[in-house]
Amino acid sequence: MSGIVDLAAYGPDFTADPYPYYAKLRAQGPVHRVRVPEGQDAWLVVGHQAVRAALADPRLTKDWRTAMASADINDSPLFTNMLDADPPHHTRLRKLVAREFTSRRVEALRPRVQQITDELLDAMLATPAGRADLVDALAFPLPMTVICELIGVPSMDREAFRAWSNEIVAPTGPEPSQKATTEMAAYLVGLIEEKRSAPGEDLLSALIRTSDEDGDRLSRDELVGMAFLLLVAGHETTVSLISNGVRALLQHPDQLAALRADRSLLDNAVEEMLRFDGPVETATWRFTSEPVEIGGTVIPAKEPVWVVLASASRDPERFAAADDFDITREPRGHMAFGHGIHFCLGAPLARLEARIAIGTLLERCPHLALDCATDAFTWRSGMLIRGTEQLPVRWTPEAGQHADTTHGDTTQHTDTAQHAGPRQ
Ligand code: HEM
Repeated sequence: MSGIVDLAAYGPDFTADPYPYYAKLRAQGPVHRVRVPEGQDAWLVVGHQAVRAALADPRLTKDWRTAMASADINDSPLFTNMLDADPPHHTRLRKLVAREFTSRRVEALRPRVQQITDELLDAMLATPAGRADLVDALAFPLPMTVICELIGVPSMDREAFRAWSNEIVAPTGPEPSQKATTEMAAYLVGLIEEKRSAPGEDLLSALIRTSDEDGDRLSRDELVGMAFLLLVAGHETTVSLISNGVRALLQHPDQLAALRADRSLLDNAVEEMLRFDGPVETATWRFTSEPVEIGGTVIPAKEPVWVVLASASRDPERFAAADDFDITREPRGHMAFGHGIHFCLGAPLARLEARIAIGTLLERCPHLALDCATDAFTWRSGMLIRGTEQLPVRWTPEAGQHADTTHGDTTQHTDTAQHAGPRQ
């Protein structure tokens, strides 16, 4: 490793398709000193083995309050959450909600997830034009509705919530991001006060009144941080799992055909979607608490470390033909949900939602195609969340009119749409 790699110099291509850049970096070594597009210097971990090692290393702290210069600390209660904590604080916070997100508990949500999906697809398919933005129609409202119902956010507040949340995970600038942080914290403080005086059946009300076996209670800031993390992590990511997954299928007609021919491949296909183009490109910031050697490079103390999950999941040393989207491969070992003590708490819920959403979409839309040129996508900003802002799709209700593909060699209708550019 030598010098500093300026990721901003890669330009917008890096956001649209970072994989070739990560491949080049991996070929030179698993750890690099970089300047991230936002301007800060950090260490980037890109190799699969090094990513696993970094995520499991207790010397990489998540508690950035102790690691950062005091001037850089954002003391919003939103960031008093388990993803910003180390043991034993992390262990305590995670234990308070872990039981709500076990595979068994989540399986009980299946009928409701199916019902919401059916209603959303009824509305989408009723569009006379036979075209829609799949993010708006399904990929966003499904996980947003599920997590808001679970936590207890009233439906009338969800649009404002969407805007704040989008700005926080994919900031458009320091000012809008700070404004969103302040407004969202104020909203959650108000919501918690409301639930304290009029508790409901939701998780937030339960967290307010319940103590765990040790008689533990969450402080007000901890409650705000917990609600924030669950709400934001619970939908931002799953939106991109559904939309990236559907996009991958529509761009790989052979894989789509294989899935339609054998629906028992669905669970494996969702794992491959997570590996091939997962929603979380880079794990959240970590800091070295002391000099730490990773993949042969010694990172000095108090340095920020960005662990690139998307690169690990495409490492050819771990996955053969790693850049191929293949729903029949063995995708186990992908890093999409992270690794170690911060491994995604919501993985069972995310899998359930994606399997139901994508399975039902394919069932109800036998003729589904992209409705824009493949280079016309607007990508979400930043290196945390990977996904497109919209996913324009179209369908025909009549069987046999055109095939499931965006490739121009199938039918006239599909070919025309491929060159039509974005719907708007
Ligand atoms: C496809 C969807 C999802 C993906 C790809 C995903 C990915 C991740 C990743 C990579 C981490 C670890 C981040 C790090 O170590 O820096 C994480 C943590 C977390 N995720 Fe998810 N997530 C998804 C859905 C969900 C859902 C639906 C929930 C709902 C509850 C959720 C809740 C959490 C929480 C609470 C943490 C922090 C765990 C801890 O610090 O111990 N996630 N997620």
